Amino acid sequence: MGHIVHSLLTSALVAGSAAAYSFPNCAAPPLSGNAVCNTALDPVTRATALIDLFTVPELISNTINSSPGVARLGLPAYQWWSEALHGVGYSPGVYFSASGEFSSSTSFPQPILMGAAFDDELINSVAGIIGMEARALNNFGHAGLDFFTPNINPFKDPRWGRGQETPGEDTLHLSNYVYNLVVGLQGGLDPSPYYQVVATCKHLAGYDLENWEGNLRFKFNAVITTQDLSEYYLPPFQACLRDAKAGAAMCSYNAVNGIPSCADTYLLQDILRDFWGFGQDRWVTSDCDAVSDIYNSHKYTATPQQAAADALIAGTDVDCGNFYSEWLPTAYNQSLITEAQLRTTLTRQYTSLVRLGYFDPAEGQSYRSYNWSNVNTPNAQKLAYQAAVEGMVLLKNDGTLPLSGNVKTIALIGPWANATTQMQANYRGAAPYLISPLMGAMQHGYNIKYVMGTSISTTSTDGFAAAVAAAKVADAVIYAGGMDLSVEDEANDRLNITWPGNQLDLIAELQAVGKPLLSPSSVADK
Ligand SMILES: *[C@@H]1O[C@H](CO)[C@@H](O)[C@H](O)[C@H]1NC(C)=O
Ligand SMILES: *[C@@H]1O[C@H](CO)[C@@H](O)[C@H](O)[C@H]1NC(C)=O
Ligand SMILES: *[C@@H]1O[C@H](CO)[C@@H](O)[C@H](O)[C@H]1NC(C)=O
Ligand SMILES: *[C@@H]1O[C@H](CO)[C@@H](O)[C@H](O)[C@H]1NC(C)=O
Repeated sequence: MGHIVHSLLTSALVAGSAAAYSFPNCAAPPLSGNAVCNTALDPVTRATALIDLFTVPELISNTINSSPGVARLGLPAYQWWSEALHGVGYSPGVYFSASGEFSSSTSFPQPILMGAAFDDELINSVAGIIGMEARALNNFGHAGLDFFTPNINPFKDPRWGRGQETPGEDTLHLSNYVYNLVVGLQGGLDPSPYYQVVATCKHLAGYDLENWEGNLRFKFNAVITTQDLSEYYLPPFQACLRDAKAGAAMCSYNAVNGIPSCADTYLLQDILRDFWGFGQDRWVTSDCDAVSDIYNSHKYTATPQQAAADALIAGTDVDCGNFYSEWLPTAYNQSLITEAQLRTTLTRQYTSLVRLGYFDPAEGQSYRSYNWSNVNTPNAQKLAYQAAVEGMVLLKNDGTLPLSGNVKTIALIGPWANATTQMQANYRGAAPYLISPLMGAMQHGYNIKYVMGTSISTTSTDGFAAAVAAAKVADAVIYAGGMDLSVEDEANDRLNITWPGNQLDLIAELQAVGKPLLSPSSVADK
């Protein structure tokens, strides 16, 4: 359970190409006569009129992320799950062409690096670009309008495999970052008449563990005091959902104090809707397969029907997965849920789509005019560069930087020296360019002696001699290494923060050569 994320991402990588979105047809019956197509009415009234036409089976079949729509009403299928962690990214809802138009999106640095820029204005601008590219892709059927980003669980333990997806550990910093990010993505603060895209604040709440020596996120129970919830775990969500008014939230795999998050009325109703004012024009999705996990992993209910009913009633409007479509039909027959509850859930989803202009004529919607020329603009490239430069942190400089003009030959060593997609980390998209440190250094006219020397996972020293030989004939040595997704990732926590493999042994040998040495650290400094 809950393991579909990676398999789906992989299949998207291989298969992605066909456009899969269309807009509902408000120009023809039966929709043309329905209030959902009347732009003079408010979004909740419009969505309610549409949902009134759904039968119970149609309501249930549309509670999942791969929403089939209702063909007899002219309502097309819709995919609620698109990703945009640091640029529009591979996901079930995103389709990059193999080449040419819509074959890429601008790739910004991972949030952990952008967060280190401490530049909220920059984040707002970056997010505005990501939202614009998302809209350009959507207009041509290459992406949805709803993005499962940002990840703002505080990064309290550096061994968490998904800490890289967050801006850091400090709640004030997280709150400011995420406020600016969401306002940028959505196209303003609670924008009217249209959202640019809808952002999803995830994962509510207390999620910061993947697989800790066999303790899996899918069944982990986070025991958190009310004080810690209110002072540490929830402030970024308050900034994201109450203040920046993100249009969606995602409940997490784990339980909080014994209740699986996606079935937790305290989190999803009392705090989110009643206290933070998350209205009926906004919706909650489960993390993918988290509703199934209520029954299958947490063993929280005696039957799958009860798990589906608990989640729906607590306020999980979209099941990312297919547990709702499988078990809600019998849950309904067993009177565990009501038709009114189903209508509430579907109305929230479609109110959000009304606010995205989904049912309105393209004319008069500036977002609908975006096209391929809005992707990878010179401004986007400039911001990606600025984010990378501002986010880098120089820990120590003994005078090696800036490199002396006498440096002509550089020994470029390490498992990151020729990194391309490795640099994009997880939830990446198809980048328009991938320039490795090796390619970049060569473009700057240096004479480069490139030797990998070692890899991130090996303990073999076979490559050391060649690396040391390159260092001896060079004027300076640059070591590019550290760790990557093989060490920390979704589903993969670290056990310690030491340098993986034998990289430190290699660095020690390079240091002994006595040339100026530059080396990065996303791991413990020695
Ligand atoms: C629910 O009950 C109705 C009426 O008894 C029946 O026709 C239908 O097949 C049942 N559906 C499920 C999924 O059990
Ligand atoms: C994109 O739209 C602009 C403005 O409407 C138009 O001038 C341009 O030709 C379009 N570009 C592409 C690549 O379709
Ligand atoms: C560097 O990586 C690129 C892209 O993967 C590859 O084409 C190239 O051969 C590599 N260069 C060296 C010297 O290994
Ligand atoms: C650190 O943890 C990794 C697994 O994350 C393990 O392979 C390695 O042996 C550990 N190193 C030390 C020094 O404990």
